[in-house]
Parts: sequence; C-alpha cells; structure tokens
Amino acid sequence: MNFLDELKNLKEQVKSENKLNIDFDFDNIVISGMGGSGIIGSIFQEFYSEKPVIPISDYGIPSFVNDKTLFIAVSFSGNTEETLNNVSEAKEKNAHIIAITSGGKLAEEVEDHIIIPAGMQPRSALGNMLMPLLNTFIKPGEESINSTYEALDSMDRDHSEMKAEAFKIYGNSYIPVIYGSRPFKSVAYRWKTQFNENAKTFAFYSYFPELNHNDTMPLKSAYRRDEYIFYVFESDNNRINRRIAVTQEITGEQFNIVHTPVTDPVAKLFYLIHYADYITYELALIRNVDPTDVSTIEELKKKLS
Ligand code: PA5
Repeated sequence: MNFLDELKNLKEQVKSENKLNIDFDFDNIVISGMGGSGIIGSIFQEFYSEKPVIPISDYGIPSFVNDKTLFIAVSFSGNTEETLNNVSEAKEKNAHIIAITSGGKLAEEVEDHIIIPAGMQPRSALGNMLMPLLNTFIKPGEESINSTYEALDSMDRDHSEMKAEAFKIYGNSYIPVIYGSRPFKSVAYRWKTQFNENAKTFAFYSYFPELNHNDTMPLKSAYRRDEYIFYVFESDNNRINRRIAVTQEITGEQFNIVHTPVTDPVAKLFYLIHYADYITYELALIRNVDPTDVSTIEELKKKLS
C-alpha cells in the first residue's frame, strides 16, 4: 500500500468491529504505547471518563497498578521496547493485560490480544488501534460511524484545502503551532507528530485554556514571530471560543481556525485527525521527502536493542 492508499484506508478502519473481551471487574485503565500507537491512549482518555484512564508513553507503570487494573498495551509492530517493558511490569502486578498489535513479541507475550492488519505505517493504523477501545467503551452507533466514514471519504476525494495549507507552510517556511482544546487536545499533539514523521518538520502544540497562561505572552511579543503559523480547532464550548477570539484580539495574531463540518464527536475526531494527515502528506511531497520514511527512528531503535 502506498502512503496515499494508507490515508484512504482510515475510513475503512473506522468500520472495524473489534472489541476488547472484558469479563472481569476493574477500577482503572492504563494504556501503554509509543508514538503512532501511544496516541491511542491519549485520545481515548479524552473521550472516556467513567473510570480513571492513564496513558503512558514512557518506561514504567504507575505504582497503583494491581489486579483491578485493565492494562492495554498498544504497539503496531509489537516490538516496541518501552511497551514490552511495561507489559512485563504489569504482569508482575497481576494486571489484566490486553494487547492491540499486528504481531511481534507483544502478541507472543500477551495471550489476550487483538491482531490488526500489518502492511502500513503505525500512524496510518490509528483507526484499527483506536476502534476496539471506542467500540468497547463509547459504543458509537451506526449513524456515528456512517457520518465519520462520509467525512473521511469526502476528504479522500478532495483534499485541495489541506494541499493549499501545505503550500502556504512551505512557501513561507512556517513552523506550525497547533492549539487544541478538550476533547481534541491529543489531536493537536497528533498533528505535531504527523508534521514530524510525515513531513520531517518541527511543529509545536498546546491547548486552550492552558495556553492562555503561558503561550499567550510570546503570541504577542516573541522574536521571529512571523515564522509561525497557528492552527486552532473550532470548539463546541462557548468559553473556549471566547478565549480564542480574545486571544487573537489582544495579541494581534490571526489564527487559522480549523472548522469541522460535522456534528458527531467521533466524526469530528477523525475529521481533525485526517486534516493533518493530508497537510503533512502534501508537505512531504512538496519538500520531496518520503512520508513513509522513519529510517532515523528505526536506526535509533536498532542501536538501542
Ligand atoms: O509512527 C511511527 O512509525 C512511530 O511513531 C511508531 O508508532 C513508534 O515508534 C512505536 O512503534 P509501534 O507503533 O510499532 O509500537
């Protein structure tokens, strides 16, 4: 599958009916994963609040983990060192462990696993890795899935808006800064990581209202201020929208507001994610870099193994 086909595959992934098999009681959920797999835990945490959810993209698990913990290990390859390390620690604490992976050591080490299709970049398998969690705990209905599919399909048919953004970024040598807000703070982070991995550019992110207590200062008076482009997600929260407006008013910065032409929360989530998939894909092409190339990350993993 080439990278464009990987992007177009996302809409098929949202139709996944995979679910976690949970026949035990648990008090909390810990989700361990790195990079393109780790984002799953952060996205899920913003969508589910019935029980504590702790996403970890690091070595080590919280000391509270015990036999009342649902421990979900997400690794596309199944061979990611930090995630495997955390699975070993969770085993020692008798946590209920479930893995989501395309195979590797993780599938061997965790008996209860969901196997997702291989043959694409980990970050392109976001739907396959996230849907088992959404299907289990959020249970999006048919209408929600259809609306998500249609939103993604329409971008797959025409992403000229995102292509124009990529040209704008390249033409002005802009450094992208992405500002999210709940429940899409982690999506702002996903944008950053897509700029990093697909387009091989730096990008930064923060979120409202927190950024009103720090980033707001350089927004008005940073040096090299013209070198940044700011993307801000439209919000459903009036106070957040008011903050976005007032922040622009008092700093003089003109944000690029990313509108979501859908109402369903799952459709919004995937729309925002896919928007950056296309900007970063187009930016990679304009820069003449391969969006699938993660050779430096792989070299580092090899040296550490
Ligand atoms: O997108 C990528 O290729 C990376 O961010 C990987 O997801 C990250 O290195 C972790 O690997 P894996 O997803 O196989 O656990």
